Amino acid sequence: MSIQVNEENLVFHLRTSKTSYIMAVAKGKYLCHVYWGDRLNKEPDLNNGLILRNICFSANTENEDKSYSLDYACQEYPTGCNTDFRIPAISMEFNDGSRVLELKYDGYELIKGKQKLTGLPATYVEEESEADTINIILRDTVKSIKVILQYTAYNSLDVITRNVKVVNESGEPVRIDRIMSMNVDFEDSGYDMIELSGAWGRERHIERTPLRSGIQAIESRRGASSHQLNPFFALVDKNADESTGRVYGFNFVYSGNFTAGAEVDQLFKTRVFMGINDYDFSWLLEAGEEFQAPETVMVYSGAGLGEMSRTYHKLYRTRLVRGKYRDEVRPILANNWEATYFDFNEEKIVGLAKEAAALGIELLVLDDGWFGRRNGDNCSLGDWYVNKEKLPSGIKGLAEKVNAEGVKFGLWFEPEMVSPDSDLYREHPDWCIHVNGRTRTECRSQLTLDLSRKEVCDYIINAVSGVLDEADIAYVKWDMNRHMTNLGSDGLPPERQKEMPHRYMLGLYRVMEAIVSSHPDVLFESCSGGGGRFDAGILYYMPQTWTSDDTDAIERLYIQYGTSLVYPVSAMGAHVSAVPNHQSGRVTDLKIRGDVAMSGNFGYELDLMKFSEEEKDIVRKQVETYKELRSFVPSADMYRLKSPFEGNDTAWQFISEDKNNVFAAYFRINSKVNPGITRLRLTALEPDALYELEGEDKAYGGDELMNIGIIIDMWGDFQCRTFRLKRVNK
Ligand code: DGJ
Repeated sequence: MSIQVNEENLVFHLRTSKTSYIMAVAKGKYLCHVYWGDRLNKEPDLNNGLILRNICFSANTENEDKSYSLDYACQEYPTGCNTDFRIPAISMEFNDGSRVLELKYDGYELIKGKQKLTGLPATYVEEESEADTINIILRDTVKSIKVILQYTAYNSLDVITRNVKVVNESGEPVRIDRIMSMNVDFEDSGYDMIELSGAWGRERHIERTPLRSGIQAIESRRGASSHQLNPFFALVDKNADESTGRVYGFNFVYSGNFTAGAEVDQLFKTRVFMGINDYDFSWLLEAGEEFQAPETVMVYSGAGLGEMSRTYHKLYRTRLVRGKYRDEVRPILANNWEATYFDFNEEKIVGLAKEAAALGIELLVLDDGWFGRRNGDNCSLGDWYVNKEKLPSGIKGLAEKVNAEGVKFGLWFEPEMVSPDSDLYREHPDWCIHVNGRTRTECRSQLTLDLSRKEVCDYIINAVSGVLDEADIAYVKWDMNRHMTNLGSDGLPPERQKEMPHRYMLGLYRVMEAIVSSHPDVLFESCSGGGGRFDAGILYYMPQTWTSDDTDAIERLYIQYGTSLVYPVSAMGAHVSAVPNHQSGRVTDLKIRGDVAMSGNFGYELDLMKFSEEEKDIVRKQVETYKELRSFVPSADMYRLKSPFEGNDTAWQFISEDKNNVFAAYFRINSKVNPGITRLRLTALEPDALYELEGEDKAYGGDELMNIGIIIDMWGDFQCRTFRLKRVNK
């Protein structure tokens, strides 16, 4: 059991392979935070670890005891409107209009393994022995509210997951106005905060800033996790880099509105929080009902950001992602979007399939424009029946023709949307998110279906499943191309209108679960205008995400590098596209476009029929190389060696767990004249082993590759060199 409880002092010690997380019940039965960091062998002296003090201008928690205030304590799950003036983890309002909530310790329960979260995505275990869970029960006895804080400690991964459940044990309705899934109080604030920010086409760029007094937060109020701010942040030591320093990572397993951040208080302590955004959120909990908040995944590394990332990667690729493609290699695909946009017909698609097969590509994806009357982005979303003018053989016939060319067939959907110009909208104008009497504001000429309504979810399940069941479809791209506005639902009473965004997510997760579980052989790739919903919530249902609509190789260095802070390369879709690049206008060689895309789920997104013979040879070689690389890169340990955010060069390395196979890539953005000597020093190799470098007839020592490295000679802009090494002795 990786969780120890000291019954006498009520100390809870959670251990993972290299970390400890310790809580204790303090005076007045408040659950306090004691420690999180490198693993401790024995429980610490509480006089040393748990500090309670009085503090001027903060009230005492109990009038009889002037010795301490909650405003000073490091707490596990602080409430508001009491003696702690910092941001609360939970706020509730009661029938009498009062808002004071006092949560006091009231017992615990140990569970082997990890429990599922009803209706929500979460990490999991396959064997009970992989993790242990503790439910700590807090209670407000005046208002009969029970709060269960659930912590799971993984044994062989340095991961602690948390979630929170509120049970209304009173006889009357109550309202939850704020509910965080996690709160950690650090007793210091000498950290930098790292976040992943961006925009459409520029997702997950790394930003690092020192903590300062007050609240600093990242949020989404868009109804999706968003391109703008990913639901991840880390607190890191000032000197932390890829391989040194303490790093505390927080990632939300949720795809909707979130808030996360840190508050540095008057005594330089830091409170961090992560949960559903309380902007436009409020939940009415009837007597006897429960509210389950989503999961947060917390990773501590005492050895820098690289180790934090590798922990997230391993957890997500093995214990978040599910289904057949968790373990099977992903097919190399060609997508027709940037090849044709809406301008295609059956002949063109079959032609692309034929060319794909000749190049060794395994799957042809038909993107937007195959249904209703959709020849542009202004109509037909919701009408999921084939456009016979474009595709006379229907989806079934087209899939057969594509298959006959020797490649599998994949199809695009945007199931959560409706075009005002669609049969679906004409039949059900009330099925979209809207407020009666107000303009239904459009984005890309579309409205969002109201997935807080059961009948709307059922429609989507039936419509998508109908197409999938009729034809031989091996892959689905699930797109989502706008954010929510004019929040309102005809399906909810006035007092529940603020529940709509979260109910939407619950509806979406139900829809995805139903479709994905009834089509276990289909590979699902999520997308939201590229990487606008690249989050752990969606990865639970769909093992890969289209990383960005920006397919420019140089831009992708930043995007893929930033994304890799949390998410594994096995989750990132990455395609070679045409030049000049459609998003940036930049011209780069086919080589670097291929080399960047090979550090992801590889594919092509251009008109294959326009390749010259010389280009075809390069593509055939790329396809062959990737087929070899995918046997280990997606499940390898990733080491980031040079950051594009810090200079002109980028480098990363993948090494298989058995250390027998290595793939490394070195990229230079701008040419430098007389640049001096550059070496790529590899890492994490077996120092005593010999590694053969592909293309050279000699072997290098592991120690040599790590200490002396490989000389990098490059000339020209946008250059890349890749290295494939195999261990030749054990
Ligand atoms: C946005 C996606 O990110 C693109 O790849 C493409 O599928 C378009 N939507 C189609 O409308």
